[in-house]
Amino acid sequence: MPEAVVRTEKIRKDFSAVTVLKDISIELQAGETLGLIGENGAGKSTLMKILSGIYQPTAGALFIDGKSTSFRNPSDAKAAGVSIVPQEFNLCPDLSVSENVYLGDEIKGPGGLLDRAAMRDRTRELLSELSAAIDPDARIVELSAAQKQLVEICKALVHEARVLILDEPTTVLTKIEIDSLFRVMRDLRSRGIALVYISHKLWEIAEICDRVAVLRDGELVHVAPVATLSLEEMARRMVGRELSDVFPKLAEPSAEAPVLFEVEGLSSPNAFENISFSIRAGEILGLAGLMGAGRTEVAEAVMGVRRATGRIAVAGKELRSHRPMDAVAAGIGYLSEDRQGSGVMVPFTIAENATLVSLPRYSRGLLGIVDRKGEAASAERWKGLFSIKATSTDQCLEELSGGNQQKVSLAKSLDPEPKVLIVDEPTRGVDVGAKRDIYRLIADLAAKGIAIIFISSELEEVIGMCRRVLVMREGRAAGFLEGAAVNEEEIMYLATGIREGV
Ligand SMILES: Nc1ncnc2c1ncn2[C@@H]1O[C@H](COP(=O)(O)OP(=O)(O)OP(=O)(O)O)[C@@H](O)[C@H]1O
Ligand SMILES: [Mg+2]
Repeated sequence: MPEAVVRTEKIRKDFSAVTVLKDISIELQAGETLGLIGENGAGKSTLMKILSGIYQPTAGALFIDGKSTSFRNPSDAKAAGVSIVPQEFNLCPDLSVSENVYLGDEIKGPGGLLDRAAMRDRTRELLSELSAAIDPDARIVELSAAQKQLVEICKALVHEARVLILDEPTTVLTKIEIDSLFRVMRDLRSRGIALVYISHKLWEIAEICDRVAVLRDGELVHVAPVATLSLEEMARRMVGRELSDVFPKLAEPSAEAPVLFEVEGLSSPNAFENISFSIRAGEILGLAGLMGAGRTEVAEAVMGVRRATGRIAVAGKELRSHRPMDAVAAGIGYLSEDRQGSGVMVPFTIAENATLVSLPRYSRGLLGIVDRKGEAASAERWKGLFSIKATSTDQCLEELSGGNQQKVSLAKSLDPEPKVLIVDEPTRGVDVGAKRDIYRLIADLAAKGIAIIFISSELEEVIGMCRRVLVMREGRAAGFLEGAAVNEEEIMYLATGIREGV
């Protein structure tokens, strides 16, 4: 076998007294794609941060082309040809796309001046290689989550990478965007670049990877050619046990249940137009559509964080205004798709985040002193319910793995005990076992009479969780699907406009 581009020998990583990686020995050949899978908190990102110079290992050795190396920082790693697209966005919101792509690696012309034109042109080229319709001059704040992810990928491709690590790059991408990313990955692979691909979507691993490595609780438990493992087997090796049905059995819809939530003629300039639907107590209504169809915008309008006109009512009572405080007071809970932007605050603890929206419940007396004990007890309950992997509920979110942050975000939207719950991409970045838990929890909430709006780009989960689906296309209601019509083809027909609905 030829010399590995990267090889690790017994890498260990401790955070304070906690060992999160144990004796990891793995190697990567030029031109191969290695899939890295494992539960939330298994250590995937940590291992990749070590390979890319973000963290230093506590013990163990790293070899590049057979030579022992150590990276003091990400620049060292980049110089050796190892680049990473991190799991969490790492972009400056107020700078433009091309400024972000070249941040720290600016192209300079004669006299040391920044060559903005060259950077813009090269960025445009990279973006078009990714089939991304993004203006290099657009500011990051103007971009959607999917577009931001593509900018991160561009940023990593700017360097002559020999090893490119992609840490859950597709959690915010649609099928079309994933396909074009895979095209880019295949192209890089044919140029001899070694790729590491982390994803919780196991079918992606099967499609794009040559080998797969499984991490469980910080240990490498299995490495094998991808063709030797079925999806079920991958899942079983990750969680160390057999997983029964992923989706829960949904309660039969009751025609007698009262309508709990109504939206009538909701419109928002440049986002969507004339959206109407109603949901009965105990019902889960799916909201499907392609990226940019306006699903998230509808949720934002309902929550009062986006300007809109139209009628919104909870239990027959119309919301007096379109402001967030009224939505929350009326009993509407919201899990935002943008975990980092408006979901949680990473410098704060699990307890603080989980009780953020419901804080008034934990305030006592005229001075509104926060009942830390009550807060901690609630947080403890969520930690147990979602198996949030953390040393305690006092741990700050920035120290949690991506999937565990998502679980805290969900806890935050559920802690106020809403009557109506909107979840936008609720299982983004969570592992198969935790997904199953989240699906069950949502089904249980519905069974208790909560009305739920379930927004997701993963058709599989929309189909598994909803008996009725509103499909949106280009800001309009393309149609409702119900019962047996809730299937992949019908949803795609409406979402793409091949078929008009009613
Ligand atoms: N800076 C840090 N300080 C303390 N603990 C940390 C830090 N970074 C990560 N950890 C812990 O290390 C463990 C592994 O986290 P890591 O982010 O590598 O998981 P992961 O496999 O990438 O999970 P996910 O699928 O959720 O992204 C977790 O228990 C996490 O809380
Ligand atoms: Mg991770």
